[in-house]
This record gives sequence, C-alpha cells and structure tokens, in this order.
Amino acid sequence: MEKLKLASENRGRFIVMEGIDGSGKTTQIKMLAKKLAECGRKTYITAEPTQSVTGGLLRDALCGYTKRTACELAALFVIDRINHNVNPANGIKKLLLDGFDVICDRYYYSSLAYQGSETDFDWVKRMNIDCPEIMTPDICIFLDASPDLCIERISGERAVVEIYEKKATLERFRERYFQVFDMLKDTDNIAVVSSESSAEATADRVFAAVKTIL
Ligand code: TYD
Repeated sequence: MEKLKLASENRGRFIVMEGIDGSGKTTQIKMLAKKLAECGRKTYITAEPTQSVTGGLLRDALCGYTKRTACELAALFVIDRINHNVNPANGIKKLLLDGFDVICDRYYYSSLAYQGSETDFDWVKRMNIDCPEIMTPDICIFLDASPDLCIERISGERAVVEIYEKKATLERFRERYFQVFDMLKDTDNIAVVSSESSAEATADRVFAAVKTIL
C-alpha cells in the first residue's frame, strides 16, 4: 500500500530531530522553532514518545518502572507513532495540512537504532517504514556529538539517568544510527549536523539544512 503523502502545496514541513541522549536535541529544537517563527512560519514542537496513553506506557518502561520485552517496546512505539501521525486533534498530518512546520523530537530512526538493535531489525524496519500511516519526514537532522561529550552534558543537567544513557550504549547506538541512515539513504532526506560547538553555531548549521526543504 502507498505511504501517506500530503498533496497540499501550502502544507507545513515535517522536520525530525534525532541524536543520542545528550546530543542537544531539546535546545536545538527550540532554537530552530524560533528561527522558523522569525521567518513568519507557524511552528509546532512535538516529541516521541508522545503524551498519549501509549506514550505513558513507554515512559514507564524506559525508566524501568515496568518491565517490557524488546518486541513489546518496538510495537508500542509503532502504535504511539501511528497515533502521532493520524490523530485528528493534533496529529502530525493535521498540523501539516493546517500549515504548521512540525518539529519532532525523535521518530522512527530511534526505533530502528534502539529497538532494531535489541530485537529483529527487519521486523522493526518493516513495521515502521512499510506502515501506510507513518509519514516519511521532509528532513531528518541528526545532531552528532561524541558519546563522551553527551555523557558530560547528561550528568550536568539530569537527575534521572535512563536505561539507554550509558557511554558504551551511546557509542553502540551512534554507530547504529549511521547504519540506519545508510540503509535509508535512497528514501529519506538525512542531514548529519555536528553539535559539538556552541549552541548558536549548531543552530546556524541546522537552519541551513532546514532551508533546503522550505
Ligand atoms: P526522552 O527523555 O523522552 O527524550 P530524550 O532522551 O531524547 O531527551 O527519552 C526518549 C527515550 O526513548 C530515549 O532514551 C530513546 C527512546 N526511544 C526509543 O528507544 N525508540 C523510539 O522509537 C523513540 C521515539 C525513543
């Protein structure tokens, strides 16, 4: 079946921000939204896991409160993602058609990198990529910083360190992300942006990449 595509000329742009924990996604998303707004564009920031019931189940599992298998997690992320795309109240599809640029903190690239390395990769890929109700973003920005720097940033600002936030794990997932990007290079528009310098310098590089799809 065909992927969900939006024909409208006036639709907003769907921008995904990815990166290992501590790569600076939260700061960069805010700075990008500000730059887009300064150009007169309507922007909407969203994230996965979402605020839905499924998103709550995912957060409980990620902080270790509930135990879930890798397949359970992968499937829950897909349910959360489908709802994120198509829910009629504030789903990504509706927002894009309403003219908003949607900036999403993590998307299926996270599932492929994280759940894909913990269970059958092809199954995780198929569930996400072949799902007609999961849209392909206009651009995915990968904020790239060394795991050492990410760990430094995480320990500085966060009280609860989640299960994925350990150095060896960060290294493994960074490599995994690059494998995923290589695999999707014919279908997805992916920009790798270094986030090791100042927030402002990174924000300029992010905006330069985003301008190519406006
Ligand atoms: P969260 O604290 O919401 O965001 P971040 O760490 O990016 O600031 O944590 C999201 C966690 O969810 C993160 O550890 C990665 C994980 N995750 C997956 O494993 N698969 C997915 O598909 C998504 C969207 C997130």
